[in-house]
Amino acid sequence: MRDLDGSPGQIKQPAAEQTDAQQAVLAPEILHWYDHNARAMPWRVSPRDRANGISPDPYRVWLSEVMLQQTTVAAVTEYFQRFTRRWPRVQDLAAAKDADVMGEWAGLGYYARARNLLKCARVVTNDLGGLFPDSYEALLKLPGIGPYTAAAVASIAFDRAETVLDGNVERVMARLYDIDDPLPGSKPVLKARAAALTPITRPGDYAQAVMDLGATICTPKNPACGICPWRAPCLARVAGTAAELPKKTPKQPKPTRRGTAYLARSATGSWLLERRPEKGLLGGMLGWPGTEWNEAPEPRPPFDADWQNLGGEVRHTFTHFHLILEVKLAELPAGYNGAPNQELLSRHAFRPTDLPTVMRKAFDLWAGSDFNPGA
Ligand code: ADE
Repeated sequence: MRDLDGSPGQIKQPAAEQTDAQQAVLAPEILHWYDHNARAMPWRVSPRDRANGISPDPYRVWLSEVMLQQTTVAAVTEYFQRFTRRWPRVQDLAAAKDADVMGEWAGLGYYARARNLLKCARVVTNDLGGLFPDSYEALLKLPGIGPYTAAAVASIAFDRAETVLDGNVERVMARLYDIDDPLPGSKPVLKARAAALTPITRPGDYAQAVMDLGATICTPKNPACGICPWRAPCLARVAGTAAELPKKTPKQPKPTRRGTAYLARSATGSWLLERRPEKGLLGGMLGWPGTEWNEAPEPRPPFDADWQNLGGEVRHTFTHFHLILEVKLAELPAGYNGAPNQELLSRHAFRPTDLPTVMRKAFDLWAGSDFNPGA
């Protein structure tokens, strides 16, 4: 962390040394800003409605927060609307078929989240009478709910004074207090700063206000300090370091793995797909039969045939590696009996949007190729 002791002759007033009175105005200042600048989101109750006694629906808050992990508000909005149209209450989601939920989730990534989402909906429905618990501790016990989601749901849905720390909040705190220790090591310090600022009045609006500030004003590049409600107390603005913060410990470069996807299509246009094992990458999702993904995978076609190379390749990046996928095509032999984890989907039942993104990219390669009779 920067030296905040204010040596003689230094003009800057360290925020860390702010008086209680100075600290106490930070929450009201950002809440005032939020009252006029809150972003509209389909799961959000506006500050005006909240002031008029309207409470958010915990199911919608929980669903949005699970979707928003590692994904942007813009990307999530459409998914959220489709989910809540199809499953308006937690009981509806709990009763859904696993494959339908995995299909609707396709494209959002991090598929373990979708499996835990269902587990959680079923626990809330079957064991808790359809009501989400209203405390951080009780929320934390539910499947798929970690410290971030528990704090977000407790604060946004139940107005509990819990500290929500996401990437936006980390950036805002790093700048407000000019903390130049790199992430992720600085997380505990940033969390302590965020906790000290969390107010007991309107904590739900406050949590969303800091997230909105990070998303719209205190942005990673070119922060709009001139219009920030916290421009006066912000130490990084005074020091001119805002755009450099938060610092990050350099990540290890990701290795590149290779693989082959085998697209087998019948004479009538059905596709051969495989349900992936529950555990592991893209667990529980539908995908193409294929090789392992490693440095030099062994060929593993689902049946012997004259497999044609589609040309081009699919590139996709996962959390821990880059993948280069070769895509091959063959006609499915009539009467082919698939393995138990395989499904033959007719051209009407097959929806490319039900596939995880990497598998969809392989389909798109076929769709744009000379092998597609409809192209
Ligand atoms: N990012 C994650 N959750 C959010 C929320 N409730 N409001 C704004 N941004 C968010």
